[in-house]
Amino acid sequence: MSAQAAGGGGASEFSARQARSPLIVALDTDDPRRLADLAGAVGPHVGLLKVGLQAFTALGPAAVATARRHAPVFCDLKLHDIPNTVAGAAAAAARMGIAMLTVHASGGPAMIAAACKAAPDTTILAVTVLTSLDDADLAGVGQPPVAEQVVRLAGMAAEAGAGGIVCAPGDVAAVRGVVGNALAVVVPGIRPDRPDHPLRPGDDDQRRVADPRTALRAGASHLVVGRPVTQAADPAATAAALLAEIA
Ligand code: C5P
Repeated sequence: MSAQAAGGGGASEFSARQARSPLIVALDTDDPRRLADLAGAVGPHVGLLKVGLQAFTALGPAAVATARRHAPVFCDLKLHDIPNTVAGAAAAAARMGIAMLTVHASGGPAMIAAACKAAPDTTILAVTVLTSLDDADLAGVGQPPVAEQVVRLAGMAAEAGAGGIVCAPGDVAAVRGVVGNALAVVVPGIRPDRPDHPLRPGDDDQRRVADPRTALRAGASHLVVGRPVTQAADPAATAAALLAEIA
């Protein structure tokens, strides 16, 4: 299903928010209070809130329920297993009322298709090559260079029925060339390149990064921002400023 048609807080709510903000804030915490505070603070400025491995492993579906009170939820579980197991997990995730769910594209077309079939009202996003990995990392695990691998995985995932692709800012143009304009292209590795910002390019584990405007200009439909917002002294003001910067 397309990103535009995805549910979560209801399809029309999703579309309205998507029109208002391409921003997705990653609620990466295992503290339920902090998750609720962050969700409440940044909720008005985002299109979706992301519940990922840390929050979901620590808090389970309660993390999704909390986030859903403030915005549609992108559940970033990066599923990667045999098709039957991923189908079961995708169906269970969909029952939480999420809008988006990730699987690893490298799980292959049968696994991606199984997730899409099991969660037809959820946008299934296929993660290509993580933003923390570069050519040397891929060579270390016997894979081709990033540019080649991303395009291969994105094309395969689109063909298998994925509703969107997750890739680094520098991969967006090539991914759009392969999947066209109908699919969501969701882009983490966003680092506002401003001197007043708490996290700047090169400060952390992310390798393939760019500022928000560069990613949007390349064709991103959604920007995923975690620490630059959540570690800021005022997450709400930082999210609002980010949104103003790209509006
Ligand atoms: O804190 P930061 O802005 O680096 O957070 C990025 C978020 O996006 C994290 O929650 C991470 O798990 C997620 N992500 C990513 N790279 C991908 C897919 C997801 O960084 N390829």
